[in-house]
Amino acid sequence: MFDKQVYVNRRLNLRDKIRSGIILITGNNESPMNYPSNTYRFRQDSNFLYFFGLDLPGFVGIIDIEDGKDSIYGNDFTLDDMIWMGPQPKVKELAEKVGIQCTHPMRELGSTLQRAIRNGRRIHFLPQYRADNILMIDRLMGISPGLVSQYASVELIKAVVTIRSVKEDVEIAELDKASDVGYLMHTTAMKLTKPGITEQELVGAAEGVAIGKGYMTSFPIILSQNGETLHNHDHSQILTPGRMLLMDAGAEIGSHYASDNTRAFPVSGSFTPIQKDIYTIVLNALNRGIELCKPGVTYQSIHLEAAKVIAQGLTDIGIMKGNVDDAVANGAHAMFFPHGLGHMMGLDVHDMEDLGEDYVGYDDEISRIDQFGTASLRLGRRLQKGFVLTVEPGIYFVPALIQKWEDEKINSSFINFDKAAELIGFGGIRLEDDVLVTEKGNRLLGSKRIPVTIEEVEKIVGKG
Ligand code: GLY
Ligand code: MN
Ligand code: MN
Repeated sequence: MFDKQVYVNRRLNLRDKIRSGIILITGNNESPMNYPSNTYRFRQDSNFLYFFGLDLPGFVGIIDIEDGKDSIYGNDFTLDDMIWMGPQPKVKELAEKVGIQCTHPMRELGSTLQRAIRNGRRIHFLPQYRADNILMIDRLMGISPGLVSQYASVELIKAVVTIRSVKEDVEIAELDKASDVGYLMHTTAMKLTKPGITEQELVGAAEGVAIGKGYMTSFPIILSQNGETLHNHDHSQILTPGRMLLMDAGAEIGSHYASDNTRAFPVSGSFTPIQKDIYTIVLNALNRGIELCKPGVTYQSIHLEAAKVIAQGLTDIGIMKGNVDDAVANGAHAMFFPHGLGHMMGLDVHDMEDLGEDYVGYDDEISRIDQFGTASLRLGRRLQKGFVLTVEPGIYFVPALIQKWEDEKINSSFINFDKAAELIGFGGIRLEDDVLVTEKGNRLLGSKRIPVTIEEVEKIVGKG
């Protein structure tokens, strides 16, 4: 938890952006795994964490614009709770740590909201992603569960996105720490890589780095020799010499700030000539993408620039053909690079995605491009100092996609399908780094960059 003034200032900032009414920020509750008292690891809602700081289940935060009070609703622990969980602080003591004097038992939330509704006041709440909170809004405000997301306040969503998009210095320090743990997760897996073990053993070792520090991963680890499946969570294969292995993983540290990096490396520890060629193109796209990140530049333009580096590289080795600018304008690169270049990162690995991707990544000026591949770009808008985002280009050989485009002659003037088909079985290469946009440009998060050049990768893989 940060100093209480951090939370006081954040709530003041939010008040300034909402004209009138009551802001309701729901915290998360425990989530049962297979019976009520056997729960998943608790994860607080990121908006509640951001504005109210308490990392415990069972709270709701209220910011009343007109009466100027911030309140926390939640119940004190009972004696029974303390028998099972040990001594616990009172809600009042917890609230004081985040600069709040008004606390109420949860049963009073309904009357507070009902009174506001009777007085014709607007209750602003954010989109909800957990069933228990959707049902609570139904119960207390009479909005049927299927309509809750439609009643979310766009004014509040936009205000929260504006505030959370620009990271404070205290947040940047946490993001640096998360990246340092991510560095250890990746280098541990790289060192332990060797033919004959399973992918799952590397997943366990990487996840163990985070868990051993009391942390967790920021999303389920993606690790596979079939790196062409973008979010591959099947880790059952045995590592085989000659194949590439892709690992996309990050840490979520105790403050819940995230990291998110991808590396791809040869199982044997040395690249074959074609692996080196494809890897070098992706690395050039990564470095070009990072180089372009600075305030005032749209991330959509950086995505398209990275796409051109990929199309140029593939043209140079005969897999694509024709004019590179035309190829990218027609979306031909997307057969190999079918996803976006990156996303915002912070308390969530895809930061604020619960609020709606378009609110986070786009605005009145920049809208999503509706073309296969680029349509998946989560962040398009103009960068500002303090934004934290990922840069993650990739090249993949997806058999079903190559087959479809070849059968339907999609972009056939830009693709040498015979050459592409030869690389079915190659897998995929993605490289991902986390970037802080600074006043004049950017810097990578964390104290060290995870090995990324061909020489660095060959030096570390298998040296565990
Ligand atoms: N964790 C998936 C991604 O890189 O966005
Ligand atoms: Mn990732
Ligand atoms: Mn990512």
